[in-house]
Amino acid sequence: MDKLVIRGGRPLRGPLHVGGSKNTALPLMAAAVLAEGVTTLQNMPVLQDVFTFSNVLRVTGCHVEFDPDTEPSTPDLMRIDATRVGFPEAPYELVNKMRASFYMLGALLGRCGKGRVSLPGGCAWGPRPVDLHLRAMEALGASITEEEGYIIAKAPRGGLRGGRIRFEPSSVGATVNAMLAASTAKGETVIENAAAEPDIIVFGDMLRAMGAQIDGLGTHTITVQGVAGLQPVTFRNCPDRIELGTYMIAAAMAAEPGHTVRLTGAEPAHLGDSFLDAFRATEVPFELGPDWVDVTGVDRIAPVSVEATPYPGFPTDLQAQWTVLMAMADGPSTVTDSIYADRFKHIPELWRMGIRATTDGASVHIAGKDGKPPHGAQVMSTDLRASVSLVLAGMVAEGETHVLRVYHLDRGYERLEAKLTGAGIAIHREQYSE
Ligand code: UD1
Repeated sequence: MDKLVIRGGRPLRGPLHVGGSKNTALPLMAAAVLAEGVTTLQNMPVLQDVFTFSNVLRVTGCHVEFDPDTEPSTPDLMRIDATRVGFPEAPYELVNKMRASFYMLGALLGRCGKGRVSLPGGCAWGPRPVDLHLRAMEALGASITEEEGYIIAKAPRGGLRGGRIRFEPSSVGATVNAMLAASTAKGETVIENAAAEPDIIVFGDMLRAMGAQIDGLGTHTITVQGVAGLQPVTFRNCPDRIELGTYMIAAAMAAEPGHTVRLTGAEPAHLGDSFLDAFRATEVPFELGPDWVDVTGVDRIAPVSVEATPYPGFPTDLQAQWTVLMAMADGPSTVTDSIYADRFKHIPELWRMGIRATTDGASVHIAGKDGKPPHGAQVMSTDLRASVSLVLAGMVAEGETHVLRVYHLDRGYERLEAKLTGAGIAIHREQYSE
């Protein structure tokens, strides 16, 4: 297995480049399944999750070309030929690696009128239900049965028809599935309390470019008028807002006071007001450009409590990183996750580095800086965002931090150690056996 070894205390000098969004790339790939012919996707991140989802598509009969090693001039280009989609199934071996594979439910129903998709099971930080996805498919007329851990979904005779769907709570994943299935259903579908995340807006923009009729993107009511068919397109994925937020936090913690770190390839508008307001309140100076963000290092970080809620709320995918930033702040603060109330597997690992943070229901109370920096330790990755929070802690810790099981991190951070090395951090990958 691989681990990352970080020698703490080196300043982050930058620049750092933000890659294509993981959370948007996967819905875009699912959308490609809906159209016969070749879809071309640009700015696709070179990530394990993207490779896994490529394999999910291949199982159904899609031909997927995405080989960053053999296409060095355009390493971010993916071609999906969905002319032949003959096997409407998403097997357990792939779905259990990555829950987003469940998007195949809407994609296969939309394309083939049926699908057999494995239930994803639990996840490292607790139960993540799919009931809203299933209710949405039923609202469009699909029959849903469960057989040996698989969901069997079938459109009625005459195909899916428009319907009214209300999500409670608002769900990114279920909104994606509903839009996939509704795009070619007969008649109008109204999705109430739909997710308004930038990922949904960009995904909806691609469906529209393919010929879908969708209104209300970016609001909580999305209306889809079903069309007879969709065409393949060439479409550009957006930059990763979570990678950008992670690097802003890294710069706030590890840039030298007065030194500015530039983050490039970014879409600052996707960060959302809550994150930007919270960042501003830390008193770390930053400036937003059209496709870049500058962050200037400081001596003192003001403590700021945050609560993760649906967009434009503070992202659940940035709360673990924020916790580490707050461990360096000048006073106590609280981080609450109202989306996933037990997404705190990084806390016991941070303790091993001397970071005093304690969980309390859906919250973490962080003591703040007590004069001593964290110290290096051997720590374990448990999930994607938890892993990167350990890397951030390692960057400012005294001594060496070994972050084990980095396969979690490889799912969502493109070439992280290469990017950080280029920006001044002492980090490298080593193999080890457990
Ligand atoms: C969530 C985040 C997303 C993030 C992803 C991975 C939100 C709103 N969503 O997306 O930004 O990238 O985690 O970290 O911030 N739920 C149900 N039944 C369902 C589906 C969801 O009860 O069928 C609940 C979930 O338990 C959760 C809430 O709805 O409390 C939001 O879930 P959802 O947005 O679907 O989660 P993800 O798509 O995983």
